[in-house]
Amino acid sequence: MKPITIAIDGPASSGKSTVAKIVAKNLGYTYLDTGAMYRSVTYLALQHQLREEQIPEILGLIRTNPISFSQTADGQQIVFAGDQDISSAIRQNAVTRNVSWLSAIPEIREELVAQQRRIAKDGAIVMDGRDIGTVVLPDAELKIFLQASVEERAQRRFKENQEKGIKTDFERLKRDIEERDYKDSHRAVSPLVPAADALIFDTTGVSIAEVVHFIQEKAEKIIDRN
Ligand code: DC
Repeated sequence: MKPITIAIDGPASSGKSTVAKIVAKNLGYTYLDTGAMYRSVTYLALQHQLREEQIPEILGLIRTNPISFSQTADGQQIVFAGDQDISSAIRQNAVTRNVSWLSAIPEIREELVAQQRRIAKDGAIVMDGRDIGTVVLPDAELKIFLQASVEERAQRRFKENQEKGIKTDFERLKRDIEERDYKDSHRAVSPLVPAADALIFDTTGVSIAEVVHFIQEKAEKIIDRN
C-alpha cells in the first residue's frame, strides 16, 4: 500500500486544520499547516517593522529564522521561527489582519511553496491551506475543498479565540473574515479557488466527526487501490 498525499483547501475557519489534523493522526501521516507558515512570516515581518516593498529583507528573515513544527505531548502543534516558539503569537489579531498582504507577494509564496513541496516529497502527508490542490501539490491523490457560511466560520473562530484567551469582538471578526476571504480569493497569485478535481464539501452545520469520516473514507479507498 503506497501512502498518498491529501490536499485540504478552503477559506478561513472552514474547519480545515481541525479535520486535517485528525485525518493525519488516524492515517499515521504527517500534517502540515501551511497557513501557520504564512502567519509565521507575517509575524517576523511585523516584529521587524518590514513593509510590502521590503521583499529581500522579508526573505532574509525566513532564511535566518527557519520555520519548523513540533508537537506537545497532548498533540498540540508548536511553531518555531528559528528557536523561538511563536505558536500563540501567530494567532494574534495583528498577524491575522496582515497575513493577506504578505501572502499575496509572489516571492514569499515561491519560497514557502518550495519548502512545502520538500516536506511532502515522500507522500504520507495531509496539507491544508488555500492553494494546495491547485499549486503546491497538483498531483495530490485526494483533494478536498471545505466551505462554510461566514456566520458559522466567525462563530467557530470566536469560540477558538475565547478558548485561547484572545479578546475578540464578534462583528469585527466577521468583517475581518469576509475581508480576508475577498483578498485571498482575488489576489493575482495562487488565489483561493477549488482545484478542478477537488471534492467540494460545505461544512455548515456538519460536525467535525462527519467531515473527518467523509475524508477518511475517500482516502482509504484510494490507499487500498494504490
Ligand atoms: O489557514 P489560516 O487562516 O491560518 O491562513 C492564514 C492566511 O495565510 C490566509 O488568510 C491566507 C494565507 N495562506 C495562503 O495564502 N496560502 C496557503 N496555502 C495558506 C494560507
